[in-house]
Amino acid sequence: MTSPRIKAVIPAAGLGTRFLPATKAMPKEMLPVVDKPAIQYVVEEAVGAGIDDILIILGRNKNNISNHFDSVPELENTLRGKGDHEKLARVQASTELADIHFVRQGEPKGLGHAVLRAKNHVGDATFAVLLGDDLIDERDPLLTTMIAENARTGLTVIALMEVDPEHIHLYGVAEVEPTDNPDVVRVKGLVEKPKREDAPSNYAVIGRYVLTPQVFDILARTAPGKGGEIQLTDALQELAVTDGVLGVVFHGRRYDTGDKVDYIKAIVQLASDREDLGPALRPWLQEFAAQL
Ligand code: G1P
Repeated sequence: MTSPRIKAVIPAAGLGTRFLPATKAMPKEMLPVVDKPAIQYVVEEAVGAGIDDILIILGRNKNNISNHFDSVPELENTLRGKGDHEKLARVQASTELADIHFVRQGEPKGLGHAVLRAKNHVGDATFAVLLGDDLIDERDPLLTTMIAENARTGLTVIALMEVDPEHIHLYGVAEVEPTDNPDVVRVKGLVEKPKREDAPSNYAVIGRYVLTPQVFDILARTAPGKGGEIQLTDALQELAVTDGVLGVVFHGRRYDTGDKVDYIKAIVQLASDREDLGPALRPWLQEFAAQL
């Protein structure tokens, strides 16, 4: 079965306070992961799942993000003049990826509010939401499975991952029931960042969602929740008890670039897997690890 064409929404309006002072004058989404800004991986993931229309929700001081997906004629001409076609291709890659649109969030009222800002662009259609702090390894497709599950059932689909109970308070958490498919669960309820003792399970919501447009009506009347912010999780809780929500359980490689240690791990893992960098990096890593 071929899945219908859907649009993607990438909220990129968070303050990035965990990476200060690096993010004092630069958006956290532009932090490099090896040699590409984190947000480019997320855009590439959406494109890899067959999406060619992407809306990025920007906050204040996020103009670097739109510049990154725009062309830079002076730089491109210089590289062309030098005959450096490899670098030229790398500069142009981010411009040619997809049809990328931008809207400003206006006020930082939370993830649910940011997603609601996509309503006019998305219209009355199912769409995907990808959060920039979570990078999913391109070798472990997740979004494609979620889109197929939505196409099969017509339901909202969220990505879940089992996490250590010690970290559960950092996530939206789902109460789940099994289905016939061991990698798909029915979501009975959701709670945003519960205390460890209140968490209904260790199934954490990771930042990938395939949402039906009903979510916009719910978000428009969702009151501020955890942290005084309009939470996407709260709107999905309502959908879970009305229309129904499914969870695709992810077992692949995920990098949380919103966390400093995981950000460093992501860079090391991705670089050591690369053909151009791995051969030089891996022997050094082994030597370094042996000294620890
Ligand atoms: C957001 C969501 C949370 C989800 C998390 C995944 O939280 O509100 O439900 O589990 O992303 O990364 P944030 O990490 O932006 O605070």
